[in-house]
Amino acid sequence: MKPIRIGILGLGTVGQSVARALLERRDLLARSAGAPLVLQRAVVRDLDKPRAIPREQLTTEIARVTEADDIDVVVELMGGLEPARTVIEAALSRGKSVVTANKRVVSWHGPSLLSLAAKKGAELRYEAAVGGGIPLIAPLLDDLAANRLLELRAIINGTTNYILTRMAAGDTLDVALAEAQRLGYAEADPSDDVDAVDAADKLAILVRHAFGLTVPPREIFRQGLRGLDPRDIAYGREFGYALKLLALARRGTNGIEARVHPAFVPIAHPLARIDGAQNAVHVVGDLCGPVMFSGQGAGGDATASAVLADLLHVSRRMALGDPAPTVRDFGPEPKLAPLAEARTRCYFRLAVEDQPGVFAQVTQVLAQQSIGLASVLQREPGKMGSAEVVLLTYAAPEAALASAEEQLARLSCVRAVRARIRVEGGDSGGAA
Ligand code: NAP
Ligand code: HSE
Repeated sequence: MKPIRIGILGLGTVGQSVARALLERRDLLARSAGAPLVLQRAVVRDLDKPRAIPREQLTTEIARVTEADDIDVVVELMGGLEPARTVIEAALSRGKSVVTANKRVVSWHGPSLLSLAAKKGAELRYEAAVGGGIPLIAPLLDDLAANRLLELRAIINGTTNYILTRMAAGDTLDVALAEAQRLGYAEADPSDDVDAVDAADKLAILVRHAFGLTVPPREIFRQGLRGLDPRDIAYGREFGYALKLLALARRGTNGIEARVHPAFVPIAHPLARIDGAQNAVHVVGDLCGPVMFSGQGAGGDATASAVLADLLHVSRRMALGDPAPTVRDFGPEPKLAPLAEARTRCYFRLAVEDQPGVFAQVTQVLAQQSIGLASVLQREPGKMGSAEVVLLTYAAPEAALASAEEQLARLSCVRAVRARIRVEGGDSGGAA
């Protein structure tokens, strides 16, 4: 059987795992692909770093992979928008199928690159771009295709989930982030993880496959972990919630809601049990009901598993001589719903003066915005002299919750609104 010749762009955390697996699992992969998979060449920046493959197979010239006649499939694992996008385009333009783990390129340029691939009879596959080793893209496109998906709630950034898990155990964000970097979970620029840029990129990919909405990641509301206080994690626990960086999309009356932000999730919800670098995507389909995909969301070997699955898919098709698939028709394109209309429950933590009448003023602000109050916690003044009030509301529109935050901050009895955190995944109930 004619071998499938592979060129890898990037031999870092993921690239090294893919290269090692291609060498160490040669027989298993050949049986599954229907042809031997041969790692022909890999591109790196620094030829002197130790690598999983002999130095003779390394190059710093990208064209020796994208334009070479002895490469059939290109695996892009460099990361970042450029030069990755241009390089993927160059490979597809030459009719070479491309497998990538690059959520940035796929979220910003996926549709145009998929069209180019189809025009050139090639394939672009990116299972590893969301959820590391968890199969997500293929199940959304194939196994759940008969469903109208209603809602998706996901933990899709391993670094931030790892950080929140460590913060819940008493570590600071900085210490936990340094450890996530050491373990190979974080992006080259870790602020992409901490500021939810990476999660918004991945959500943009998921909403396209789950709801047929093509949205640039910059239009997705995102809020990261900065400013989160471990006390909020502790108070949340008292109310029965775990704090997660949640990516959420939902079919509403005015389009598809899509947002990424820290959120309290009831501890009984399956997402609350997703800890460390684990990821999970919980979807609700109109036929299948709730389904959750979970597993290792970051790390070299787990991500290599998804990259290799795509490689096997492309190789099988090439080995059988089948044509590349055409661009998927997602039907009429829905709109992105405005954030102001999203309804959530909400958690507020206020630093207040220790004086009579505070509670009446606070509840009046909520009542003016028609926000129902579900629970209250009050703490006596600490060393700084201010008392702390923690409120949990019933579901209300985002616009009303944001106005309430502003008005609370203006009350003379409120020293500061220390936190406003949305609550997701429970009974939204109540008098809102
Ligand atoms: P990484 O460890 O930073 O490795 C990047 C590799 O690409 C390095 O080998 C680097 O070469 C090479 N490279 C970067 N820019 C290059 C350029 N302009 N020319 C030639 N080579 C270049 O990254 P990674 O963590 O493996 O991530 C790779 C991709 O997978 C990214 O898109 C990432 O978002 C995605 N991903 C990562 C994970 C994960 O857990 N790490 C999970 C899912 C998806 P040198 O080694 O010489 O510097
Ligand atoms: N930095 C990413 C994360 C890598 O932590 O989820 C996996 O995409």
